[in-house]
Amino acid sequence: MTDDLFTPLSLRGTEIRNRVMVSPMCQYSCDDDGLATDWHRVHLGSRAVGGAGVVMAEATAVEARGRISPNDLGIWSDEHGDALAPTAEFVSEHGAVPAIQLAHAGRKGSKTRAWEGSHPLGPDDGGWETVAPSDAPYPYEDDDPPATRRMDQDDIEDVIDAFEAGAERALTAGFEVAEVHAAHGYLLHQFLSPVTNRREDDYGGSFADRARLVREVTRRVRDVWPDEKSVFVRLSATDWLPDRESWTVDDTAHLAGLLADDGADLIDVSAGGIHPDQQVPDGGPNYQVPYAERVGEATDAAVGAVGGITAAEQADAVVRNGRADLAIVGREHLRDPYFTLHAAEELDALDRVDMPVQYRRGF
Ligand code: FNR
Repeated sequence: MTDDLFTPLSLRGTEIRNRVMVSPMCQYSCDDDGLATDWHRVHLGSRAVGGAGVVMAEATAVEARGRISPNDLGIWSDEHGDALAPTAEFVSEHGAVPAIQLAHAGRKGSKTRAWEGSHPLGPDDGGWETVAPSDAPYPYEDDDPPATRRMDQDDIEDVIDAFEAGAERALTAGFEVAEVHAAHGYLLHQFLSPVTNRREDDYGGSFADRARLVREVTRRVRDVWPDEKSVFVRLSATDWLPDRESWTVDDTAHLAGLLADDGADLIDVSAGGIHPDQQVPDGGPNYQVPYAERVGEATDAAVGAVGGITAAEQADAVVRNGRADLAIVGREHLRDPYFTLHAAEELDALDRVDMPVQYRRGF
């Protein structure tokens, strides 16, 4: 039998009820303390009730300086973990796997929220000093770049410890999947890409040295994450900068093989974000799915495809054709929290979808 969108997926002891994952999406809905609010519980809870297999919380900063905006979610203290627990509990009670993306923005931190223009914020305006592998700041197109400080060995160790502590708190809060965010030009991707990593120590230079931090972080998260639960890693498959030395799909395929050895159970394959000169393809249907396919050939880990997946038949085809194990759906979930229930209706699979009893009369 061919797997389809409603075939459950087992990863270690995690049983995922279908192949739809809600992509992590920043909500910029905390006060400036990084604590989860009712928004997060209702927003993520709705998508669990809507039938998705995995519901992934947005990029959640492991250090306060690792936030993108002051309104991002954080997990840098036990209080942050406690604030997230009701969200994880509700998602889990409704049959979805509660997942959390552990993140550090590096030089792309300290900005206003997306709907305020994502402008850099200086320390006098509620922002903070950002850190990065090198001291080159993110080259904002319309704003003067703020200073970025090159991380020293202590900073690197602090970040690794912060990912580990964040994972421990996420576990206590009730999450079943921890995803390491190493994509979209944020800190771990900044170490991977030669565009942003100009170091000449153990954390820069060769492929192995640029990959060292993400591999150490993955192993440390894996060490504290129980054997029966899964660790995901999100990578940008390419920097989309073909005219210069940059991170490529071949690099990603190579790294994905190594990350499986480090304990990653699924590679979540996205792209881009390292530099504003990137040449992004049209962004149409399945625009990043070929990268997931390529990565899948190179790793023992499962693979998730994201980008331009918006329709039931399309998501189903990604799985049926073996292009990826999970169809990861972002913006369509902002339009339709019930994407999976609607997909079941469309694909004549209502007898196979996990539908809240309260909603059955609607279908
Ligand atoms: C995102 N994206 C994103 N990615 C990520 O890894 N962590 C995050 O916190 C966010 N935040 C975020 C917020 C919003 C509002 C959007 C629209 C997107 C990227 C997202 O997860 C996804 O990869 C892209 O949107 C592409 O998938 P879709 O939207 O084409 O399905």
